[in-house]
Amino acid sequence: MVESITTQPEGRIVKPPATLLVIFGASGDLTSRKLIPALCNLAEDQYLPENFIVIGSSRSKLSDEEFRAKVYEGIQKYSRRPISPAVWERFSQNLHYQPCNGEVIGDFELLKGRMESLCRKFEAQFNYVYYLAMAPQFFGPIAQNLREVGLIEQYDKAARRTTVVVEKPFGHDTQSARDLNEMLRKSLAEEQIYRIDHYLGKETVQNILVFRFANGIFEPLWNRKYIDHIQISVCEDIGIGNRAAYFDENGIVRDIVQNHVLQMLSLLCIEPPISLSDANSIRDEKAKVLRSIKRMTAEEVKTNTVRAQYGRGAVGGQQVVSYLEEKGVKPSSTTDTYVALKLEIDNWRWSGVPIYIRAGKRLQKRITEIKVFFNKAPDSLFKGRQVGELEHNVLSIQVQPKEGMSLRISSKQPGPRFRVRPVEMDFTYDNSFGVASPEAYERLLLDVMKGDPTLFTRNDEIEESWDLLAPIFEVWNGKEAPPVHTYEAGSWGPAAADELLRSGGHTWSNS
Ligand code: BG6
Repeated sequence: MVESITTQPEGRIVKPPATLLVIFGASGDLTSRKLIPALCNLAEDQYLPENFIVIGSSRSKLSDEEFRAKVYEGIQKYSRRPISPAVWERFSQNLHYQPCNGEVIGDFELLKGRMESLCRKFEAQFNYVYYLAMAPQFFGPIAQNLREVGLIEQYDKAARRTTVVVEKPFGHDTQSARDLNEMLRKSLAEEQIYRIDHYLGKETVQNILVFRFANGIFEPLWNRKYIDHIQISVCEDIGIGNRAAYFDENGIVRDIVQNHVLQMLSLLCIEPPISLSDANSIRDEKAKVLRSIKRMTAEEVKTNTVRAQYGRGAVGGQQVVSYLEEKGVKPSSTTDTYVALKLEIDNWRWSGVPIYIRAGKRLQKRITEIKVFFNKAPDSLFKGRQVGELEHNVLSIQVQPKEGMSLRISSKQPGPRFRVRPVEMDFTYDNSFGVASPEAYERLLLDVMKGDPTLFTRNDEIEESWDLLAPIFEVWNGKEAPPVHTYEAGSWGPAAADELLRSGGHTWSNS
């Protein structure tokens, strides 16, 4: 069992053991934007192992110095706070670069030599972490080559812990996810594969479990008897940037729903796990939720899903082009940049509770949140008092941009008249804790180094999530495919998505 850094008694910090981290795809965006800034922030907080080496690796030929200069620019641009010169100085001494073509075995021999010679400078036994920050077609060959040169030892016989971290997309449907997994499993045990979903590293997402299970008042209400419906929104104002090649192949369902949204949904709806400190207890329960989500029939796909693409419009006062005009997008593309779905978890706790999901690019505002709408109180006491219709109590879990929670309750408006108005009871991380939350990658990288897979997605969760989306893709790609709607950039999405909720007597909450 691995204790998380946040649960150490009396704030004692147990650092991870000596670790050598190799980042494949080190010349890419993720390394400069997220990974190295996250590591430097961990260094700032003194959370990194005492003995720690990073090797960046990609096909580009760079020297250590060139690599350091490149990632330092990234730190200055993307780190959530300035990194002090002394911390950078110490960190960068153990930051190296080794070119490697993932398909050339000789390059792995050279990498091995470099790793061994760097480790020899320390009196410590290093665990190895390989971070594959690259397209999935390279996962298999890299794992195989690492194995062949002896850089991955057999899991149950290994003297050191070896872990491979893979980025999404993990497949594009059930079969390709299975194939990818099989390819990795030729060289690795399941316990050695950490499939990252950065949403699971977000404070507010982790807080879902604490909120549900550390408070006595909510759990008794957490079921179909008291909950009217749930909305989960991942709305972004940004477009696809320079990621057309990736995005046009995948679309918003594969980019956001299959991973981030379904992970949040499964945490929100799980049964209490046997333990919070044992990775598999939580993951078992999450997988059960995903398995219980009702698979849609072809007819249901037509009525319970809406897909759309953004047209031209204005976001934050700036005119923006339509999706089809974005550089690199196929002119005839029908790729979804917006989706709204109505799902149902067909189990004892949730049966009959509609779960509305939406995700989209180029929407009016960036809002990622979960809203739980409780049943309305009966209005018999208020009849004839002109209080209007009583509203739902709504619990909002705000993931971003403002991290926090709020509960909407009805209250009497002060004054001689009997007016009822909804008010919000708010909690924000800023006000309550006074510190900015760490970036998701900080927590996740630390967990990898400590060997704690709780916040990483297990293979069965991945398969279940593809499986439940399969009927949707089948109808969307079939002869009777529902239309791809258009919405104006800067709006809240297509009218059809409002209609999807209206048919159930609901409306999207955009506040
Ligand atoms: C990524 C998606 O996984 O998550 C992006 O590929 C999306 O398209 C991003 O913009 C959103 O992450 P965050 O942390 O900014 O909500």
